[in-house]
Amino acid sequence: MWDTDRLHIKILKKEMLLYKKIFFSAFIGTLITMSACIKSNQPTGAGSDFCDTTDVTFSKNVLPILQSYCYACHSDKNVAFSSGISLDGYNNTKGWADAGYLIGDVRHDAGFLGMPYGKPKLSACEINTIVAWVNQGEQP
Ligand code: HEC
Repeated sequence: MWDTDRLHIKILKKEMLLYKKIFFSAFIGTLITMSACIKSNQPTGAGSDFCDTTDVTFSKNVLPILQSYCYACHSDKNVAFSSGISLDGYNNTKGWADAGYLIGDVRHDAGFLGMPYGKPKLSACEINTIVAWVNQGEQP
């Protein structure tokens, strides 16, 4: 009687240990999956929420945005639709920035046309990049 009880307890303990092991590995598994998810959400540059606006320059940071969203209407070769408004190159873009239109337009501020014209706003990071470029003194 006593012996079978002990045996029973032993088996129970073994089962508990097994459950603990299963639970523990499931827990670790969840942790690993979670950390993998967190990692994949981490800053990777373009396309993520992360936005690096340190040392913004025209050629490195602003030009690619203009090429993607603005030169369809504002490159020297392509200004018919915008009645000759060119953002081609550093000087032209600086001109419109200094005149106060560039930031207002890309931010869709009240009283501005809102650019890109007739299209959705740029991403927050793209807008922040342009604003940072102007605020940091329009580095070429
Ligand atoms: C689909 C064509 C189109 C695209 C793309 C476009 N624009 Fe424009 N843009 C226009 C037109 C049209 C005007 C107004 C021209 C006028 O006043 O006669 C204009 C005017 C401007 C002006 C002059 C100031 C003003 O508000 O009138 C700036 C600066 C400007 N756009 C910036 C941009 C920037 C920056 C982008 C890209 C993020 C962009 N545009 C994309 C068509 C476009």
